[in-house]
Amino acid sequence: MLQGKKILLGITASIAAYKAAFLVRLLIKEGAEVKVIMTPSAIEFITPLTLATLSKNPVHSDFTEDLNAGVWNNHVELGLWADLMLIAPCTANTLAKMTSGICDTFLQAVYLSARCPVFFAPAMDLDMFTHESTQENIQKLINNNNILIEPESGELASGLEGKGRMAEPENIVSFLKQHLLKNSPLARKKILITAGPTYEAIDPVRFIGNHSSGKMGFAIAEECAKQGARVTLITGPTALSAYHSNITRFSVVSAQEMYDVATSKFQEMDAAVLAAAVADYRPKNVAQEKIKKKGESLTLELEKTQDILFALGQNKKHQKLIGFALETQNELENAQGKLTRKNLDMIVLNSLRDKGAGFGVNTNKITILKPNNKMINFELKSKREVAQDIVKEIIDLFK
Ligand code: CTP
Repeated sequence: MLQGKKILLGITASIAAYKAAFLVRLLIKEGAEVKVIMTPSAIEFITPLTLATLSKNPVHSDFTEDLNAGVWNNHVELGLWADLMLIAPCTANTLAKMTSGICDTFLQAVYLSARCPVFFAPAMDLDMFTHESTQENIQKLINNNNILIEPESGELASGLEGKGRMAEPENIVSFLKQHLLKNSPLARKKILITAGPTYEAIDPVRFIGNHSSGKMGFAIAEECAKQGARVTLITGPTALSAYHSNITRFSVVSAQEMYDVATSKFQEMDAAVLAAAVADYRPKNVAQEKIKKKGESLTLELEKTQDILFALGQNKKHQKLIGFALETQNELENAQGKLTRKNLDMIVLNSLRDKGAGFGVNTNKITILKPNNKMINFELKSKREVAQDIVKEIIDLFK
């Protein structure tokens, strides 16, 4: 859930600030991009150098970098950059300032500029935490949609025992992951995705295949997984790897194998995105031994494979069904025809006539068609960005 997430970590002046180093490491290990902001007093507890080294980003604690050179830190830019902001440890003082909009530190300015969800992990002594003003402040922050990461109980820096110490870094990270998972748009959705080419055997050493690399299907699988979906990725032969833990991969070779896995999994799915370049025909008879070079020409008899997308369209109940159309002429008309004929909720059209679209390359240019002549044109983008556009439209189908 944290893979690729842009996280602003605000550190305030509590002894628990030393744990922020572990927190940064864990977030980076999860694949997040982390930028650290400290209050000036937090610097007395842990050095910016430690946090800059661990986060691989400069650490800011003030509005200006170099007054003489007129270099200043842009709190608005940082606030807008973040996917989520986490203030950990969050002192009683910072809590109070957050509730009233006081803006006397760079961290407060970033907090007020952030449009993303803000999580705060209080850290203070027992009586400070239970004090009614602190409790009122916490409640106010919750009412304003900030998300509390409860402090834990145990021995406190003062020597007292009780609730108030910052949640352990591991627990903060798993809280963030749980929260994001629960609130992600595709949470609890099961999505089947086909990707890559299929190989249709001619004999034990040869096959009929195509140029599909699988990049588009894999990018969609990664994006769906990032949005919380449980992805079943059925892929033909490709060198690609799927990294997200929400993706279960089934490697197949032929159209028939892809058909068998896809149809057996479809009923338990909420959606299926068929991005594979499936062979439409396969050799009718597969030679048991290698075919020897004999005559001047060789004729292979081909038979139709089963159309997986069509079969799913016939059997769909509650599922959203998304197909692809790769065309070289009459693009819109052909895609529209497939949308209706295959009983789809959406079709993604790419034309081989568009520069930078199609097989092997890292970019794609698509048009999305939906029933009732709805059509959206997109610019040429990286396949990752195209996957984000497609998944946004899939999320829309569920609304
Ligand atoms: N598809 C499929 N099974 C097949 C053939 C295609 O699931 N045997 C799916 C593809 O994954 C894609 C969509 O159908 O989502 C369109 O594939 P395409 O090859 O463009 O269309 P066809 O229906 O095969 O039509 P044609 O080849 O005549 O353009």
